[in-house]
Amino acid sequence: MILARLLAFVPLFTLSLAQNQGCTLTPSPTGDDAPQFRAAGHDCSVVTISKGTTLNIATKLDMTGLSNTHINLQGTIRFNPNITYWLANSFQFFFQNQSTFWLLGGTNLVLNGGGTIDGAGQAWYDALARNSTLQRPITMTIFQGQNVVVENIKMINGPNWFNLVNESRNVTYRNITINAASTSANGPHNTDGWDTYRSDNVVIKDSVINNGDDCVSFKPNTTNTIVSNLDCTGSHGISVGSLGQYQDMFDIVENVTVFNVKLTNAQNGARIKAWAGANVGSGIVKNITYTNITVNNVDNPVTIDQCYMTDQAACSANPSNTFLQDIFFNGITGTGSGSTVATLKCSPDGRCNNINVNGLKLSPKNGGTPQFVCQNVVLNGNSAGLFPKCTTT
Ligand SMILES: *[C@@H]1O[C@H](CO)[C@@H](O)[C@H](O)[C@H]1NC(C)=O
Ligand SMILES: *[C@@H]1O[C@H](CO)[C@@H](O)[C@H](O)[C@H]1NC(C)=O
Ligand SMILES: *[C@@H]1O[C@H](CO)[C@@H](O)[C@H](O)[C@H]1NC(C)=O
Ligand SMILES: *[C@@H]1O[C@H](CO)[C@@H](O)[C@H](O)[C@H]1NC(C)=O
Ligand SMILES: *[C@@H]1O[C@H](CO)[C@@H](O)[C@H](O)[C@H]1NC(C)=O
Ligand SMILES: *[C@@H]1O[C@H](CO)[C@@H](O)[C@H](O)[C@H]1NC(C)=O
Ligand SMILES: *[C@@H]1O[C@H](CO)[C@@H](O)[C@H](O)[C@H]1NC(C)=O
Ligand SMILES: *[C@@H]1O[C@H](CO)[C@@H](O)[C@H](O)[C@H]1NC(C)=O
Ligand SMILES: *[C@@H]1O[C@H](CO)[C@@H](O)[C@H](O)[C@H]1NC(C)=O
Ligand SMILES: *[C@@H]1O[C@H](CO)[C@@H](O)[C@H](O)[C@H]1NC(C)=O
Repeated sequence: MILARLLAFVPLFTLSLAQNQGCTLTPSPTGDDAPQFRAAGHDCSVVTISKGTTLNIATKLDMTGLSNTHINLQGTIRFNPNITYWLANSFQFFFQNQSTFWLLGGTNLVLNGGGTIDGAGQAWYDALARNSTLQRPITMTIFQGQNVVVENIKMINGPNWFNLVNESRNVTYRNITINAASTSANGPHNTDGWDTYRSDNVVIKDSVINNGDDCVSFKPNTTNTIVSNLDCTGSHGISVGSLGQYQDMFDIVENVTVFNVKLTNAQNGARIKAWAGANVGSGIVKNITYTNITVNNVDNPVTIDQCYMTDQAACSANPSNTFLQDIFFNGITGTGSGSTVATLKCSPDGRCNNINVNGLKLSPKNGGTPQFVCQNVVLNGNSAGLFPKCTTT
């Protein structure tokens, strides 16, 4: 990237060229393509990684503050699995002690092209088996992004979550194929498809996910978000939360619509989870709608859990201060792996309000009578009769 280096010293020239310039990247002789990829993101309006080209990212990749950049990824971006390096150098986040390889942010960004983002997770999956607290980086984080489109991309073998959207607005993912697979006995744990945090107006659609944790998870302060047409296999479902984990924090998840999602061999289907107990936080979950969710061999097809990660005694002594309101489960159909097909467990004293269950058609995959569990729920809707112990209005 001699050109990029020259341009860095001629700011006016850079400005005039940057508007139109297309740059095609080829592997750097240094073995680390992070510096040239980062520079191209700032200097070129279209950054092309051609089919057959693999960029090796061996150092942390800060691509924030871009504007009007199109990354045309036809080839592969691979994150070199040097665990020693990443433990000392990845970008750190306070929230759940997370870290990331790559921050991508700015205004009017497009990432597409039919190529692959490879987290090279196998070394991480195996290292996790030796160290259960090993911090594994999130593959790609959209950070402080506005008007961002990510489409027609494959993502494979993330060491941890594949996608985080943090402090961003108007971000759309479309036609993404996610696949986390281990070739050893050590599974691809915590490989969430997407997590959203402090973000507004996120759309995730038309994608196929094969992973080992939440397919999509709406973390604190996710608003006005739509998820549709996903095919999730092996996941932990589409989850609101977990929320209320941190003392003195107030978490909001509001205006989330999820429709036409198929979940196969998953731990959960539609799930809302919030912490309880001493020294936790608080929050509000409001206007969440799940419609047309098809489950196939799912352990907990419908779940509200306001005692998440909290034992029964601690939950009773200090019920969750994350309140739920205006929740709709519409048309959840298919099979559960066991006999309990829906569990709505709320904390007492009006902490769950206006919970609606319509058109629930769930049965145990091996036959028998489906069981429905509920606690402290004031339930509206046609399927109220399925939950005999609930208060209904
Ligand atoms: C991995 O990274 C560490 C720390 O940056 C470095 O010392 C080491 O040489 C790297 N190992 C390989 C195989 O590149
Ligand atoms: C999002 O970014 C902020 C600011 O850097 C950080 O405090 C927070 O922990 C990040 N969130 C996540 C989920 O990583
Ligand atoms: C980070 O991890 C440490 C040690 O595992 C833990 O004590 C701490 O509570 C975690 N912090 C957050 C913010 O989750
Ligand atoms: C496990 O990994 C964490 C970093 O993620 C590190 O702090 C800790 O020292 C490691 N433990 C062992 C036994 O290596
Ligand atoms: C959202 O982003 C898309 C793609 O960049 C853009 O076309 C659209 O105008 C943006 N919407 C708003 C409200 O900014
Ligand atoms: C989806 O993305 C793949 C590349 O990952 C591409 O081959 C395919 O044409 C795209 N489909 C649509 C409908 O855009
Ligand atoms: C969420 O938004 C509310 C209202 O703006 C704010 O008070 C709270 O601190 C935010 N929480 C997080 C986790 O960012
Ligand atoms: C939720 O949507 C309603 C209706 O569009 C809107 O009035 C409200 O401001 C939205 N809430 C948030 C937190 O954006
Ligand atoms: C609920 O959220 C959806 C977006 O997910 C929004 O379109 C709708 O207006 C919201 N409804 C209310 C009553 O706020
Ligand atoms: C749900 O499925 C029904 C029946 O296929 C269809 O009529 C309806 O439009 C779907 N609703 C949504 C929100 O996708």
